Amino acid sequence: MSRYQALYQQSLNDPDTFWGEAASKLDWYKPWDKVLDPDAKPTPRWFVGGEFNTCHNAVDRHVDSGRGDQAALIYDSPVTGTKRTYTYAQLRDAVARFAGVLREQGVEKGDRVLIYMPMIPEAAIAMLATARLGAIHSVVFGGFAANELATRINDAKPKVVVSASCGIEPNRVVHYKPLLDNAIAASSHKPSSCVIFARPQAEAALIDGRDIDWESAVAAASPVDCVPVAATDPLYILYTSGTTGQPKGVVRDNGGHAVAMLWTMKNIYNVEAGDVYWAASDVGWVVGHSYIVYAPLLAGCTTLMYEGKPVGTPDPGAFWRVIEEHGVKVLFTAPTAFRAIKKEDPEGAFLKKYDLSCMDALFLAGERCDPDTLFWARDKLGKPVVDHWWQTETGWGIAANPLGIEPMEVKPGSPTVAMPGYDVRILNEQGAEMPDGDMGNIVIKLPLPPSCLPTLWNNDQRFIDSYLSKYPGYYLTGDAGFKDADGYLWIMSRTDDVINVAGHRLSTGQMEEVLAGHPDVAECAVIGVADALKGQMPLGMIVLKAGVDRDESELKKELVQRVRDQIGPVAAFKLVTVVKRLPKTRSGKILRGTMVKIADGSEWKMPATIDDPAILDEITEALQGLGYAKS
Ligand code: COA
Ligand code: AMP
Repeated sequence: MSRYQALYQQSLNDPDTFWGEAASKLDWYKPWDKVLDPDAKPTPRWFVGGEFNTCHNAVDRHVDSGRGDQAALIYDSPVTGTKRTYTYAQLRDAVARFAGVLREQGVEKGDRVLIYMPMIPEAAIAMLATARLGAIHSVVFGGFAANELATRINDAKPKVVVSASCGIEPNRVVHYKPLLDNAIAASSHKPSSCVIFARPQAEAALIDGRDIDWESAVAAASPVDCVPVAATDPLYILYTSGTTGQPKGVVRDNGGHAVAMLWTMKNIYNVEAGDVYWAASDVGWVVGHSYIVYAPLLAGCTTLMYEGKPVGTPDPGAFWRVIEEHGVKVLFTAPTAFRAIKKEDPEGAFLKKYDLSCMDALFLAGERCDPDTLFWARDKLGKPVVDHWWQTETGWGIAANPLGIEPMEVKPGSPTVAMPGYDVRILNEQGAEMPDGDMGNIVIKLPLPPSCLPTLWNNDQRFIDSYLSKYPGYYLTGDAGFKDADGYLWIMSRTDDVINVAGHRLSTGQMEEVLAGHPDVAECAVIGVADALKGQMPLGMIVLKAGVDRDESELKKELVQRVRDQIGPVAAFKLVTVVKRLPKTRSGKILRGTMVKIADGSEWKMPATIDDPAILDEITEALQGLGYAKS
């Protein structure tokens, strides 16, 4: 039996020993009564009875054990021309002081703090300070519009919001403060205060009695110590796209999360304390939570916060410059970043200018990794490239090539094998297991391993309905795919309305809700079509209300703007076309799957249940008008 197989079997047959050993590497105020409580509702829970603090383990523990002078966080911002390093001791002091600011604002254990920040160290400091107090953070990605922010404020009900005057995109300064003010005006819940970090690129007018300036508040604050919480208490809520306009508030606990995070650093990524680890993502996404902030710090690594893009800041050599300059051992990003680099520098000319000998491996996730991108990255870098599959809900890889256990054979297009704790099965609609090689719904037999969501924020029922009801005893991933005879997993598509645009998870259902709200729209469908750079792009088809006679290009502009205003620029909604009718089944269900296949030029079969086959000709024509549906 291979080392991987032995560990994998142990994790399923004896989870108490497997995860108990992993947990013993962290500091606990009180040890757990049970590693796993299989009877907890709505799902089994980890480290029940244990008392813990995530910030202590990620920061203070390393200072206490003599790593105080080691770099904890390097900020590298080509968009502002700034670089800054925090040692573990400096990070501890900054976090303890900012925890003092939050405490002054009344934040206590269990309170929520909403963080709407660009990629600056203060975002990580605010997250860790919240954790230090035993409070719960909810970070909102900067590319979302005020409306999305308002939805999250209403659901999480934060006592305090932490934000900055602006974010910086290569083509513009994103003024956060007006977005925040509009969001608070639109939400029924009102935070009692907002702490605003002023950046020189934009001024933000503070509202008297509500807004506080970060720097003056920190100057006046006293440092605060870590507050012990139950291992099962929430560390954070991270909203992610579901099938409707109401995002799902994925809850992460403290103990199980930290245990899983620490385990992955050595076993999956093969890095240890002192190594430099770089996740080129954003703190607003799960990759940023897990692998910019928590996992590298829990492992005593140096983490990198990069405020820039893979291309254009200033050129497609940006990533290689950062790797060489900071001695990065492992880079983690989304395949789309590599497609962007490949597009601008297909021969890898920029790569040749840098010495990447410090780098051991590249990890990719967030969307399906097409083999071409994998080959290009592997050939040009001359390093192992690991595609791994995971979700906001799990917080870490469900399937990966565990370089720290033993590197396994690579099958391009597959994220390799299930990681310990994940008993992955492929089921048909009736719940029977599919034979090797046959596609089905990918599920995970309960219990889910540590770090996976125990529920959705304040909504056990939605959690049960979304993930646990279809196949009792199993967690529904929402992905479809198959397992091959060697146990490798192949993740082929989503089974719901979720699409992945440039590695960002978006809901087509939500975009449909926004389009349907336009006064001229009778009905609409949004589908995700294949895109050479971003993986997928949303494409909207709309049917106008009877009697509407408008200039189509004006109307299309309004619809594009509407999605940008209500969801945000990150939705990248640019493709829209007017059609007379939408193809439906006889029972009235829109045939989105068939339209996706037509748009992508893939093989498709006329659905037996279609109401009027002629509509598909009209749709094909409309899609061709946008440059799709080429056979
Ligand atoms: N704040 C405000 N706006 C943002 C934003 C942020 N944090 N992030 C993105 N946006 C905006 C962009 O400026 C763009 O606006 P535009 O329509 O005015 O041009 C829009 O949202 C779409 O962004 P994106 O889809 O990311 O496209 P892009 O052209 O700006 O960049 C890539 C393309 C491939 C370079 C970029 O997506 C990328 O680096 N991806 C890396 C992967 C990643 O971070 N994945 C996350 C999970 S690992
Ligand atoms: P997110 O919650 O944003 O991380 O998105 C999770 C979804 O992205 C998964 O359910 C998959 O559909 C997709 N995904 C993430 N990583 C991969 C991968 N390596 N291969 C295929 N799909 C992936």
